[in-house]
Amino acid sequence: MNTKPYIEKHKDRFINELIELLKIPSISADPAYKNDVIKTSEHIKKSLEDAGCDQVEICETPGYPIVYGEKIINPDLPTVLVYGHYDVQPPDPINLWDSPPFEPVIKKTELHPEGAIFARGACDDKGQMYMHVKALEYLTANNELPCNVKFMIEGEEEVGSESLGWFLENNREKLANDVILISDTGMISKEVPSITTGLRGLSYVEVEVTGPNRDLHSGLYGGAVANPINILCDMIAQLHDENNHITIPGFYDKVEELSKEERAEMAKAPFSQEDYNKALDIAQEHGEKGYTTNERNSIRPTLDVNGIWGGYTGEGAKTVIASKAYAKISMRLVPDQDWKEITDLFQKHFESIAPKSVKVKVSPHHGGTAYVTPIDSVGYQAASKAYEDTFGKTPIPQRSGGSIPIVALFEKELNSKSILMGFGLDSDAIHSPNEHFGIWNYLKGIETIPHFYKHFAKMSK
Ligand code: BES
Ligand code: MN
Ligand code: MN
Repeated sequence: MNTKPYIEKHKDRFINELIELLKIPSISADPAYKNDVIKTSEHIKKSLEDAGCDQVEICETPGYPIVYGEKIINPDLPTVLVYGHYDVQPPDPINLWDSPPFEPVIKKTELHPEGAIFARGACDDKGQMYMHVKALEYLTANNELPCNVKFMIEGEEEVGSESLGWFLENNREKLANDVILISDTGMISKEVPSITTGLRGLSYVEVEVTGPNRDLHSGLYGGAVANPINILCDMIAQLHDENNHITIPGFYDKVEELSKEERAEMAKAPFSQEDYNKALDIAQEHGEKGYTTNERNSIRPTLDVNGIWGGYTGEGAKTVIASKAYAKISMRLVPDQDWKEITDLFQKHFESIAPKSVKVKVSPHHGGTAYVTPIDSVGYQAASKAYEDTFGKTPIPQRSGGSIPIVALFEKELNSKSILMGFGLDSDAIHSPNEHFGIWNYLKGIETIPHFYKHFAKMSK
């Protein structure tokens, strides 16, 4: 199998097709973009048909539709199910983008001298998902598809994949497969390929602290009444101790502890703390005592404020004690923490540390379970061989700090392992202004994915 000549011949079209897809603002979080999200699902349907799927349908759900496509060449052969998402994060803060988020442009960067496509969703996940559509085109156009393939592309990943959970429960047979293939993560670098073997779980909550029943003059009442913003900051500060351990009782009870050997294995992945700090323009790293940066952002749980607001934040000054203060808090979880249990522990603890002078409300948002996959499975080994074919190197297994909550559910509902072949870089600014995806990475993904099919079909015999 040599995928390179076909890609070389068609790469301009592959890039232009992705650019067209990126122009549609499929922001699932914002109802104002409903029509664009739906339009994107129709766009994907057409792309899958053009790439060689025999049957493609838009499956309606209580939320946004799921695009399902398949090409079954022989029911006796193994089946690969490709999962991805066509929805994107909101582009805010919009003024920090160097070019408009839904008007893709190609620019060179230090890490992407071949150029990168700048647009919301370029890497997460339209670009990475579309690599699979083009890999299918390669396989069908060249008569090299060695097994069956199913596609399931959803539109609610960035808001918790609620409809997909429902879809899985109701379509177990339709979705039956031997392995699930996903490109929605990253790799260490262009020179150091890696396969993601773990994802963190998540518990996301919103808290509201109420002080007096109305906003007050901060001179007339200041000093005599609890200021909910002050109190909220104090309560948040109490959630970590001096070693940056999370103080919620029971929080670590079920955390999987890695053996010395496993941690030593992890430490072999190339990493420079100096480069890391430089890339983020920070003078020093920060985190839980006793763990390295790569451990802190993958095998250890976290608690972070994602947003905090209240009082006067407009131009100039207004002297006021606000009646209410709010924060959105995420907790990244590791195997074997149960996100519902953690949400409960958070709620009880947060209420218990509130002084009598305020009222506290905790509203759970959504959550998900962590995932780890073994490296001795046929799926992992087939992926590893595919990278060897196209990178000339064995990829390093690496746990990621991000979350794709549906992956744990795939295992539960469909009883299959997910293989996470991500081609993005941490520096691609996903969820941030100026998100981009390297053209080299995009084409490398299209080049590598067909090799996975080849090895998987061969090794499954
Ligand atoms: N693709 C990301 C997750 C990701 C990125 C995992 C890079 C590993 C490496 C996904 O779209 C995402 O953003 N997930 C959310 C969770 C979701 C429930 C909103 C996340 O991790 O914050
Ligand atoms: Mn994603
Ligand atoms: Mn995302």
